[in-house]
Amino acid sequence: MGYEHIRVETKGHVGVITLDRPQALNALCAALIDEVNQALTQFETDDKIGCMVLTGSEKAFAAGADIKEMAELNFIDAYLSDFIASWEQVSRTRKPIIAGVAGYALGGGCELAMMCDFIIAADTAKFGQPEISLGVMPGAGGTQRLTRLIGKSKAMDLCLTGRMMDAEEAERSGLVARVVAASDLMNEVLKAADKIAGFSLPIAMMTKESVNRAYETTLTEGLRFERRLFHSMFATEDQKEGMTAFIDKRKPQFANK
Ligand code: CAA
Repeated sequence: MGYEHIRVETKGHVGVITLDRPQALNALCAALIDEVNQALTQFETDDKIGCMVLTGSEKAFAAGADIKEMAELNFIDAYLSDFIASWEQVSRTRKPIIAGVAGYALGGGCELAMMCDFIIAADTAKFGQPEISLGVMPGAGGTQRLTRLIGKSKAMDLCLTGRMMDAEEAERSGLVARVVAASDLMNEVLKAADKIAGFSLPIAMMTKESVNRAYETTLTEGLRFERRLFHSMFATEDQKEGMTAFIDKRKPQFANK
């Protein structure tokens, strides 16, 4: 399939989507988001793919929603078209997805990275929610996901001042899972994705579903949900294989990869 604003490739069992709109630092115009959504659907329905990666360039993961496209938007059009709702497909993916972030991840760029399951950042990464300086506020999860990830005080600091946070501060705050040298970013991201893709796909998907449930419900309900999924895993061949392989001191050969 031909894409204009992204590159899409398969590396073994990993599907990689690279934002590729360098003239606008990967600003997230509607056409780019449509393409990302098509690529996500392609990978979600491809039995060979066990994990996905969303990344950008060395200079920018994404510098936010496209300000030039948004500048003349009015309330009625924003409301009727449910502007930005289409971005949510990333957060609804069922297969694991890792964000590999180098350079700017600002506004919608930071929000898109947060929709992924976890972020591996290059030491050059810069995160921020600068919308306030444009006369708006974050509209794709910046006041919600960021607050859950890094807490109220830091989220307020970032959303109200619009300042940027470097990779080290982002890791310390819990926004980022790991920071690696910029030159190693794709290696490390692909290594993590490949590892995930090597496990049982249904087990990885249920694990993701269960961790995400922690954001949606009470501890008691979340624990009940976790227990039900955990019990159901004993109905899979992959549980038998994983545990037998451990006992036999060999590598497991999961059926559902
Ligand atoms: N939208 C549209 N175009 C953008 C853009 C954006 N978000 N960010 C950068 N660009 C464009 C610039 O206009 C410029 O294009 P021209 O060469 O045609 O002028 C090109 O990308 C390169 O950008 P700069 O010259 O500004 O590059 P820089 O290295 O000097 O600065 C930057 C980099 C600090 C990231 C700066 O580009 C910047 O501040 N960008 C805007 C960041 C921002 O405010 N993001 C939030 C957007 S709102 C949002 O995302 C809402 C939401 O919650 C969904």
